[in-house]
Amino acid sequence: MNRTILYTILLLAFLTASGFSLYFYHQSQVDNEKISVMLTSQQDLPRYHFVLIGEEMNHEYWRLVGQGAKAAEKDFDVFVEYVGPKRSNPDEQLKLFDMAIKSKVDGIIVQALNDQFTPLIDQAVEQGIPVITIDTDSEGSMRGVYIGTDNYEAGQLAGKSLVEDTKGEATVAIISGSFDHDLHRLRVKGFTDIVEQINGIEIVAIEEAAISRVDAEEKAYNMLAEHDNITAFYGTSSYNGVGIVAAAKSLKKESEMYVITFDAIDENLQLLKNGEINAIVEQQPFEMGYTSVEKMIDMIKDKPFDDVYHTELSIIRDVDLPIRNHQKDGDS
Ligand code: BGC
Repeated sequence: MNRTILYTILLLAFLTASGFSLYFYHQSQVDNEKISVMLTSQQDLPRYHFVLIGEEMNHEYWRLVGQGAKAAEKDFDVFVEYVGPKRSNPDEQLKLFDMAIKSKVDGIIVQALNDQFTPLIDQAVEQGIPVITIDTDSEGSMRGVYIGTDNYEAGQLAGKSLVEDTKGEATVAIISGSFDHDLHRLRVKGFTDIVEQINGIEIVAIEEAAISRVDAEEKAYNMLAEHDNITAFYGTSSYNGVGIVAAAKSLKKESEMYVITFDAIDENLQLLKNGEINAIVEQQPFEMGYTSVEKMIDMIKDKPFDDVYHTELSIIRDVDLPIRNHQKDGDS
């Protein structure tokens, strides 16, 4: 081989090796940059990851619960993953609960609608994941804390308001959100325990109507058709009042009907303003969401906590609306 060929080969080899070196040097710089971006963003991640499982995402009450929890994120260095079925579906809630346990999140906040939630609550706690029940409790489970309405007391409050507003004279129909769910059972029990003490009040019908306005309207319509002496309705969940009013209107009975229902959602407040609903039992969904995150942090950090936090309850009538609106304007 002559010298020129040899030098050319050596030169080519040198150039190729330098090219590779430069390429790998550049790549390592890029990779280092990626790693440092990843590390920085990991440092920026919140310290805790909680899952909050509600009953129905497409619902004003549950949106407020979610907003409360989200508002607590920055105060407590938490990311709250807010999940739930689009429409009420306890089986789907149970699946979401199971997934949260398998993902080993730092805490689970769940509405314990019925007994099927108890084994999952216990399983989570046994695996070291603290659980808080919200809106509906599971007293017999290993949950650390319950945050929400005292549902029996809420039923009593509704009963007392009906007695007061109807001067103790009424033929009553009840629409429950569900016969199987504890919170609705307690709201009915609290109510009947009060009104049954009053001679002029008689309960003539009770039906369940999921938590949808369509169901409530159908049930109220059938009840009114069957008992034409009904003068008052009590609804135990947010959209019952809307359904009751629609049914009474279609049978032209709205002017003589007394209606009391749950939750200060916009539609109910509008019906109260129009005089079509007479009283609303107000719960505090935003506060429930916020406090659930706050108390979960207390549990994790071994700070003292109570096992039950009952949020405030009140009755709103049309006379209360101006003060309420005034307070709201003051807040904003
Ligand atoms: C109850 C919730 C329920 C909602 C549905 C509220 O009054 O507290 O449990 O999901 O009504 O309408």
